[in-house]
This record gives sequence, C-alpha cells and structure tokens, in this order.
Amino acid sequence: MGNTLDVREMAPKERHPMIFNTFKDLGSGEHFVLVNDHDPRPLLYQFQNEHDGEFDWWPLEQGPQAWRIMIVRRKEAGIDRTITEYLQTDHRRLDAIFERFQDAVQGQRWEDASSDFREFSLGLRRHIKVEEEILFPAFEEKTGMTESGPTFVMKMEHTEIKDLLDRITASTDAKDGGKATGGAREIFNILSDHNMKEEHILYPESDAFLTEAERAQVIKKAQTA
Ligand SMILES: [Fe+2]
Ligand SMILES: [Fe+2]
Repeated sequence: MGNTLDVREMAPKERHPMIFNTFKDLGSGEHFVLVNDHDPRPLLYQFQNEHDGEFDWWPLEQGPQAWRIMIVRRKEAGIDRTITEYLQTDHRRLDAIFERFQDAVQGQRWEDASSDFREFSLGLRRHIKVEEEILFPAFEEKTGMTESGPTFVMKMEHTEIKDLLDRITASTDAKDGGKATGGAREIFNILSDHNMKEEHILYPESDAFLTEAERAQVIKKAQTA
C-alpha cells in the first residue's frame, strides 16, 4: 500500500517540490495518494511534461472539499504505451475497490461501504467517459464502424452500468444490505463480461488501428478527463 501526502496545510510554493520528491522516491509499481484543496490540474500537466509515460494518475475524489489523486510510478516506464495496458490497469484498480466495498457491506461497515462505493463510482464513471469521449470516437474514425460495431454494444452496456451505480449508491447510503448485495451481484456480472470483451477485442483492435503517436495522445487526454 502507498502512503498519503496531504499538502493542504503546506505553503503553496512548497507543494509541487514536495510532490515531485515523493514521486521520485517511489519504487517501481508503488504509489501515493495526494490530497489537495483544489483540482490539481496544473500539477498533472507538469507530470505529463516531466514524467511522460512514467506515471498513472487516478482521481479518487474530486471536490468540493478535497481532491484525492492516486499517483503511481509505473512498472514499465516508457512513452510507447498501449490502450490495452492502460485501460486494463484501470479495470483491475476498480475491481480492487469493488472488492473492498463488498467486504464492507458484508461486515455491515456502512460508512466504509459508502465511501468505497463513491470511489468506485467516480472511477468507473470517469473510465466510461474516457472510453466514450476519447477512445471510441478514435476507434470509430479509424474503422468506420459505428452503428454495427463493438462500440455501439459497449455504449448500451455503459448505460446499464451507470444506472446500476446510482441504484447501488442509494441502497448503500440507505444501509439496505439486501438491495446493495443484489445490485453488486448484478453489476459484477455485467462488468465481468463487458471488461472481458473490451480487453480481448476492443482494446487490442484499437492498439492495432492507432499509431504509436495516436495511442499516446489518447492516453494523455484520458489522464486529463
Ligand atoms: Fe466500457
Ligand atoms: Fe473499460
């Protein structure tokens, strides 16, 4: 597990040097969670300029009081990244949060369950947004496949998934164990199949159709989503 770096009490000019030093001290595959009192977007741009390909940037909370970002030092640093590796990593990361959520529901730790699910929901909505607004349009433009292609099916499933996210959030906040567990089972089943199709078909095809520069562009844009 990584550690937390809360910079909210620090003088603004000390923040960035502190953050980059913390990043430099990370071993391969390690991460820390940055906590700040505003959207740290300029920081992300600085990371993209100075550490392109070396990091992953996963928002866990996006205001209004606190912004929490998981910053990872990638195992295989390099600018030539694939869509498959990038989005599959996010699937795995979300799976782990979901497992934590299920454990919390099982143990009736409702506060943990609610905050875990908020984190899961934020991450998955952002993931879907990246797919629908950045990856799918690039894929459709290259292949000419829209109405009958794989992205069409994925988008329909996204609608179902987002609806379930709302329902599970409501059941969890209402501490309704039966409904939360039922919803969790449903979303798990949809996601297992959905993610498998993306990881085995859509992402590898995207990697094949896009050039190295286009892939890098998709990932750079995805980080800022
Ligand atoms: Fe998806
Ligand atoms: Fe996905």
